[in-house]
Amino acid sequence: MKTILFIHGPNLNLLGAREAEHYGTKTLSDIESLVKEQAKKLGFEVLAFQSNHEGALVDFLQKEGPKASGIIINPGALTHSSYTLHDALRDTKLPAVEVHLSDINSREEWRRVSVTAPACIAQVSGKKEEGYIEALEVLHKNIQG
Ligand code: DQA
Repeated sequence: MKTILFIHGPNLNLLGAREAEHYGTKTLSDIESLVKEQAKKLGFEVLAFQSNHEGALVDFLQKEGPKASGIIINPGALTHSSYTLHDALRDTKLPAVEVHLSDINSREEWRRVSVTAPACIAQVSGKKEEGYIEALEVLHKNIQG
């Protein structure tokens, strides 16, 4: 079975308790279960990881990237600033889809810029947890065999 890395950045461990109008009411664990179930139907297994630390996200990508087939990542606020994460994603050479629960284009000006999206094949924004299902479908279409 092909492995998809399912990665969340800073503060996303608090989903369920964060601003519900932006992020919905599901916890990260609810979302991971939902994605794992859907991934199975597409023939993928999911390796989930969350960290509040940029370097830990890079370490995870370097360690698990060579064994994986694709990436779904919500980098949290690192989206808007982390060239480090951009490079780490690029270095995996894997198809990655960036997901945002909220619509980053209709919030503060600074959220409109994603420095990580250019290292990804697609970005899904503003669809709450449904965005992760869409990301799985994008990967399914883009991963051969
Ligand atoms: C987010 C959007 C980011 O701007 C924010 O910093 C987050 C969550 C989202 O899922 O909508 O932490 O990535």
